[in-house]
Amino acid sequence: MNQSTRFLLSATVLSLGLPALAQAQIEGPNELPDGDAKNLVQGICVACHDVSLITGSVGYTQDEWRYLFGNMINLSEPIAGQMAAYLAANFPPSGQRKPVLVSGDEVVSFQEWKAPTLGQRPRDPFMHTDGTIWWAGMYGSLVGMLDPATGEMKEYRLDPTARPHSVIEGPDGDVYYSGNSNSTIGRIDRQTGEITVYPLGNPEARDPHTMAFAEDGTLWFSVQNSNFLGRLDPATGDVWLTQLLTERARPYGIRRDSEGMLWVAYRGAYKIARINPATREITEFETPNYGKNPGKGHFIRRLAIDSQDNIWYVDSGLGEIGRFNPKTGEFKQWPSPNGVDSHPYAIDVVDDIVWYNESDVRPDTLVRFDPKTESFQSWEIPSGIGIIRNMSHTPDGNLVIHQSSTNTVGLAIIGEENNARYSENRVSQR
Ligand code: HEC
Repeated sequence: MNQSTRFLLSATVLSLGLPALAQAQIEGPNELPDGDAKNLVQGICVACHDVSLITGSVGYTQDEWRYLFGNMINLSEPIAGQMAAYLAANFPPSGQRKPVLVSGDEVVSFQEWKAPTLGQRPRDPFMHTDGTIWWAGMYGSLVGMLDPATGEMKEYRLDPTARPHSVIEGPDGDVYYSGNSNSTIGRIDRQTGEITVYPLGNPEARDPHTMAFAEDGTLWFSVQNSNFLGRLDPATGDVWLTQLLTERARPYGIRRDSEGMLWVAYRGAYKIARINPATREITEFETPNYGKNPGKGHFIRRLAIDSQDNIWYVDSGLGEIGRFNPKTGEFKQWPSPNGVDSHPYAIDVVDDIVWYNESDVRPDTLVRFDPKTESFQSWEIPSGIGIIRNMSHTPDGNLVIHQSSTNTVGLAIIGEENNARYSENRVSQR
């Protein structure tokens, strides 16, 4: 492909600035093998990510390649066919990274919806108190909204440099996003759709990440690579930032417990931290795997909190889940069914059952862990290719999930009662 065609494609596909490197996926070499469509793939597919995601993929048939990249970009013939043939010839199904599934008694079904803008990397979905589902479309620099009752969707376009990492509902019902690439927090008025932008105002705090509200209505957030923790008062726009004591802690997931304390997972260290929002005091706790990380660069990505204020977390480096009891100081960890390379990622607790995903197997699995019996059960996610990067529960005990590569947001509907209720109202799969 010549330069001008390539420019045209990249410019029409996305006008988002530089791509962020994908994390957690197994990445292959950044060089494609020779072949007829090498230049096409090289030219078109790098608009959003490196070719290392292609060379490191588990491999697919021609039809599967079409399905996969058809969720990222709309290509006409004969280009799409040539690329699928080249990809299937060089990266056929390898049978690698297939998950071991664990059977059990729980009933789970899935409902998934395709996000309208292709290749947007939908992530961090949650159900709003009004029943709508919201997500951050990071690569598309948008925030999406879905009414699961009707299947209707709407996308709110943000400043192209915002590239939101996460979304969350505020006490006022408005939807807040973290502008991961332009160092802002934004608020979308739920009634009018009007967007208010709050700059962090410190050039060293570049990448606001995951957010949680304190009981006093202030918004707390991790600033991952910049190693800060932040607080925004939406009433005044005032931002307070503090650098973490642990170097390269890379603060990641953040949640609030029943006493109003905030807990943060460190992606860059085997630690979790507690923040008292009233005094702004930060206390760090080392997990038992301190010093044992296999050097993959990820430690504790996310955490969730049960009804007894136990902190549940994913040890993404060692493929385990863990529990910290702040009252006794006791830690305990369990290996995930697919072992050290499974990369547990997102996590939440529903009725004191722990749910998380194993993100380095394909398909991505949803895993259930019952702390009482210490037993696991797991399912393949139907759209199947991608990563759940954050999940959250709904008021009626289901989970809102997504798949980053196949461009979906979805519901994991849990238990016989919920499944009976949802089957009555279910809209057709898109
Ligand atoms: C508009 C943006 C965009 C374009 C263009 C694009 N992709 Fe992607 N692709 C994505 C996103 C988003 C992901 C998920 C990345 C993540 O989770 O970090 C992804 C992930 C992947 C993966 C990893 C799948 C897995 O195992 O999860 C493969 C393989 C892939 N893309 C192939 C391609 C090919 C082939 C092309 C060119 C035809 C292409 N992509 C073009 C957005 C895009």
